[in-house]
Amino acid sequence: FNKEALARIMLMENLNLTAGIKELSVTKTGALRIDWTNDHQSHYEAEWLKQRAFTEEAKHKRHSTYRLPKRQWSSDHKIAKLDYSFVLEKDEGLLQLLIELEITGAVLLQNTPSDPTAAFNICNKVAKVKYTHYGELSNVIVVPNPNNVAFTGAALNLHNDIVQYHDMPGMIFLHMIKQHTGEGGETTLSDGLYAAEQMREIHPELFHLLTTTPVYFWDIGEADPADNTRVKDFYKISKEPTIKLDISGAVTHIRFNNQIRDSFLDLAVDQVDDFYKALKTYFELIHANSIGFKMTDGDMTVVDNVRCQHGRTGFTGPSSPRHLVTTYLAWDEALCKRRRLQQKCSRNQ
Ligand SMILES: [Fe+2]
Repeated sequence: FNKEALARIMLMENLNLTAGIKELSVTKTGALRIDWTNDHQSHYEAEWLKQRAFTEEAKHKRHSTYRLPKRQWSSDHKIAKLDYSFVLEKDEGLLQLLIELEITGAVLLQNTPSDPTAAFNICNKVAKVKYTHYGELSNVIVVPNPNNVAFTGAALNLHNDIVQYHDMPGMIFLHMIKQHTGEGGETTLSDGLYAAEQMREIHPELFHLLTTTPVYFWDIGEADPADNTRVKDFYKISKEPTIKLDISGAVTHIRFNNQIRDSFLDLAVDQVDDFYKALKTYFELIHANSIGFKMTDGDMTVVDNVRCQHGRTGFTGPSSPRHLVTTYLAWDEALCKRRRLQQKCSRNQ
């Protein structure tokens, strides 16, 4: 074991599966010493062993460092609000943001400066932004020849972003620099996890279909040739189920995006009707349990993109000044920062 690298240096081919314990003893410092039948010797500190005990308590403790428990919500949910400067300038603020995102999947940051890179400042405190072929940030504005329906005034149904990537972004920052002044342009949010669990309970066969039916998502297009921050042309295809479960059956990823769901179906023809019924049922659940609010200039909604869906109501006018900036961050980076900040903040207490 390399104590500096905190990693095993023993090669797997040298793992001896038949060595047994020759002698057990306790050292002067209270550590356990094991002499093995192959002449290898091990020392284990008592606390180290206790943390790794095969007890439910020890397992639970490790799991709570790994992930915080999620709290599901429905249409009566009040989104948590935090001040942008508090999050950017104070460890406690950033920690509150990351914990709330892990537990409920959505936070509204207020008093954000009108700089399109405002989300970068937060992402840079965590790690780095997650790059996609739309660049490190995407200006969602109405443009004459849109390569994505987001760049129009059309209503957008609740959806998860960038599902055409297998490695879809974990978190999305929706920064409202300039809101549409007329009717429309409201943000809708739904806890896709709540809807998935409702579906598992009420419609188990349809839930099973969504967890086992692979769906193609695709995105093909070209960026403005003058824009050097983006990939010039792209042709992404992903193939994943709408609801992805881990080995314990817990929901880990939700991919619901009807705008870029591909028209190729990798199904038997007699499964098509049930598949659409399952998709529609899931949509009705997220829609019925969603919340809606109109962001004002300087608001930034941060959403767990592999759990919650976001959308917007439509707005009219070919020249709306509405200007929203989207930026992404990977969950691995956010979880890593949450653990480090928890260590740091508990040391300072
Ligand atoms: Fe979106």
